[in-house]
Amino acid sequence: MISRASSSECYVYITLPGQVSAVTAGRFVLDADVRGDALGRFVYGRSYSKNPDAVEFDPVELKLSDRTFETTKLSGVFGALRDAGPDSWGRRVIEKHAGRVQLGELDYLLESSDDRAGALGFGRHQSPPAPLRKFNQAIDLEKLQSLAEALIKDEIPNDPRAQQVQDLMLLATSMGGARPKAVVQDGTGLWLAKFNREDDRWNNTRVEHAMLRLARECGLNTAESRIETVGLDDVLLVKRFDRERTTKGYMRARMVSGLTLLGADEAPQARQNWSYLILVETLRRVVQDAKSDARELFRRICFNALISNLDDHPRNHAILAKEKPWRLSPAHDLTPSAPVSTEHRDLAMECGDQGRYANAENILSQHARFLLDRGDAQKIVHDMKAQVEATWYDTLRASGVSANDAEAIRGAFVYPGFSL
Ligand SMILES: Nc1ncnc2c1ncn2[C@@H]1O[C@H](COP(=O)(O)OP(=O)(O)OP(=O)(O)O)[C@@H](O)[C@H]1O
Ligand SMILES: [Mg+2]
Repeated sequence: MISRASSSECYVYITLPGQVSAVTAGRFVLDADVRGDALGRFVYGRSYSKNPDAVEFDPVELKLSDRTFETTKLSGVFGALRDAGPDSWGRRVIEKHAGRVQLGELDYLLESSDDRAGALGFGRHQSPPAPLRKFNQAIDLEKLQSLAEALIKDEIPNDPRAQQVQDLMLLATSMGGARPKAVVQDGTGLWLAKFNREDDRWNNTRVEHAMLRLARECGLNTAESRIETVGLDDVLLVKRFDRERTTKGYMRARMVSGLTLLGADEAPQARQNWSYLILVETLRRVVQDAKSDARELFRRICFNALISNLDDHPRNHAILAKEKPWRLSPAHDLTPSAPVSTEHRDLAMECGDQGRYANAENILSQHARFLLDRGDAQKIVHDMKAQVEATWYDTLRASGVSANDAEAIRGAFVYPGFSL
């Protein structure tokens, strides 16, 4: 159960490359500064720093060092720690389980489950807990889906003893994002299960599955996905790219979101820092293969514009490290939209001289930052446009999207403003 007082400090654990259980890496304290604003402090433990296998949590803000790091941004929670915690979906689950809404920032980290994104963990004890052995099974999807639905419809009783309330914690409390989800295991590994919502305009899970497929056809590196039909509904399973099953347990990759790399948050006033142009500069500095990852990011911008994925916010991008070096994570959460305007659509992040405009000329305008010469960049845009134009419909239909749904989202693909 969650304690009444908000926690103010915790240990941070990490599962090191090649390992399947965690070690203690440092200590995080959440305090207030003289003005009463949240102040977070983090220090890597001395024995961790001496460990030759030790790795940094974040290649920008939390490089390995003996110093005490401090931050007043993000309510005092360092971006790399926040990335390992829930967002609106997981918070909602935890709040309902706790029977109250105002939890401290640290409570969300401590109360979310250990299937969180990345390699970090949190706890009140100096030694990390034993690794999680039991996960939801893919065959439990029907139960998980009806639980998620009941939560959305506010049909879960406000009684902590009710079984449904206890079961809530099975619902991917630690994963980010706003849509209903759970984490499940099958014989091959761990998957993020994403559910449809009754108020979705089309069969979202099949459409998202189709977009991952279309992105692959366009040459992007994407997360693997499949559809499981439970009852009358479809569930999207996206293979966790930060977990690798071994006979001894799960190895974990570290993960840092684009939001953290930008030093930004989700408040409206911080959105001016939401920029692919800044992101690519940081990416180039921290990843092992700057040329390849910068090019891949350019291609993703292009793809997002071509399918009107206007929800391409910085938490939908990440870097990943299985060993020491970092690389851009596979693409995920690709969702088309079909707004009324056919002339002007904006991505969620600045992508060229004309700001967020999802337009070929705009995307091309800053090609050099992506380490591409203009000719190469033009060819990418030209080829991808032709590919999306030629195959979007067949890819949707081959992924089981109905003809009605395909018509409903027709306007998302290669909208006229892209080539203006
Ligand atoms: N295949 C994956 N492997 C590991 N982590 C993932 C994977 N897919 C998503 N994640 C993590 O889970 C978070 C939530 O996933 P996703 O973005 O797909 O959910 P969402 O609810 O649709 O998000 P949004 O609120 O952006 O619509 C991501 O931000 C990312 O940190
Ligand atoms: Mg997302």
